[in-house]
Amino acid sequence: MKKVRVGVMGAGRGMAMINQLMNSEDAELVAICDFYAPILEQARQEVEKHNLNVKTFATFDEFVQYKDMDAVVLANYADEHAPFAIRCLDAGFHVMTEVLTCANMKQAVELIECVERHPDLVYAYAENYCYFNTTAEMRRLYQQGKIGEIVHAEGEYVHDCSSIWPQITYGQRNHWRNCTAANFYCTHSLGPIVHVTGLRPVQVVGTQSIVLPYMSALGTHGGTGAMEIVTLENGAVVKSLHGDMKREPGSVNYEFYGTKGSMETNRWDLYEMKTYIEGEGCPNCKGELTTYKPGFVGDVDTEAGHGGSDYYTVYYFVRTILGDEEARKESIGVYEAVDMCIPGILAFKSVNNGNIPIKVPNLRNKEERDAYRNDTYCASKAWAGDQYHHPQEAYGELPYIPDEVYDRVKEKWEKDEQG
Ligand SMILES: NC(=O)c1ccc[n+]([C@@H]2O[C@H](COP(=O)([O-])OP(=O)(O)OC[C@H]3O[C@@H](n4cnc5c(N)ncnc54)[C@H](O)[C@@H]3O)[C@@H](O)[C@H]2O)c1
Repeated sequence: MKKVRVGVMGAGRGMAMINQLMNSEDAELVAICDFYAPILEQARQEVEKHNLNVKTFATFDEFVQYKDMDAVVLANYADEHAPFAIRCLDAGFHVMTEVLTCANMKQAVELIECVERHPDLVYAYAENYCYFNTTAEMRRLYQQGKIGEIVHAEGEYVHDCSSIWPQITYGQRNHWRNCTAANFYCTHSLGPIVHVTGLRPVQVVGTQSIVLPYMSALGTHGGTGAMEIVTLENGAVVKSLHGDMKREPGSVNYEFYGTKGSMETNRWDLYEMKTYIEGEGCPNCKGELTTYKPGFVGDVDTEAGHGGSDYYTVYYFVRTILGDEEARKESIGVYEAVDMCIPGILAFKSVNNGNIPIKVPNLRNKEERDAYRNDTYCASKAWAGDQYHHPQEAYGELPYIPDEVYDRVKEKWEKDEQG
């Protein structure tokens, strides 16, 4: 069988995909692109150890013209995925992007319409948190009706990145991690709830907590705690909480309450879960409580990053391209990807307008798209145009972070890089 030839753009997080592709039965790594020369060189040396013939590109313009490639993984900046995905799809490549899907509502519409223009190409969203042993099991149980219909759910992604901030922002004032709104990165807390239930968000109320002083001291305007209260299409309510709050190890947690039972991950061990299920004919409040660590799906490389979940993003993407219908069901397509992302974009608008409820549109419907076609409201200057809003607008006075902060972070990063 012919292997899928894949190129990866962005060799930071992209190394996870590169490593998997170098050892894949279904795919072949053929190209890597990164405009930061040292990281591209590091990736090249890694690939060389495997005796592989992989082209390296310093610019996207050259990369996207490469002919001996079928598919592209975009692991570039989190608020730049949609425009690059569109260019790759229009150039004839299957595309998988890292999180998040898009920077604003305009991009959501444009991405969807681009995917629809190319029905023969696969678009996949690498929301790996849907593929933990526990979240994948929760999806199976929910789809089998074990806990009945969802009433309420909670998702949490609390990750205090202060110790690694120099390594992940390089002292760049305009790095997306320093600039995006606190509500933007809602995908890890909300995404698995969307994937488990298969239900669409219809309304969001956004909140932001106080500005975290240890994050401001590292140069971020947006890195505070944030929450989205999301209503799903059946009326169930979801709490999606994320940010850099203090907790080690970080908190990745999911809880679901249904009409017949509940299921939740262990608050201090994501890979263990509990279910409480009231079976058929079972009297109220007399169900069965079970605690267990579910297995992984298939023959998985559980050494893969993020508790083995990284494996499935590439696996389902490549298998979908090869026509595997079971993989297509698990892979996250463009509509679901947009559902996992736009509640965060709209929550920022909600926060800036006194936490008002905002409708989350169903962009599958063509007639709902026009209202968002020119909606560039966001905190990413490059994409917002005249609808730019500062990530801390809701607090009134906007902070000015002096250049010395970024100089200090850059110095720390360079020192750590040198070993
Ligand atoms: N799913 C997860 O668990 C997870 C974990 C970490 C990061 N991520 C995502 O991965 C992506 C990358 O994050 P990161 O941690 O590597 O940091 P990053 O965003 O700083 O790195 C992006 C990399 O892409 C390169 N790049 C950006 N634009 C480019 C362009 N136009 N041409 C060529 N190269 C370009 C940069 O030089 C850099 O090496 C982000 O979208 C982030 O959200 C996901």
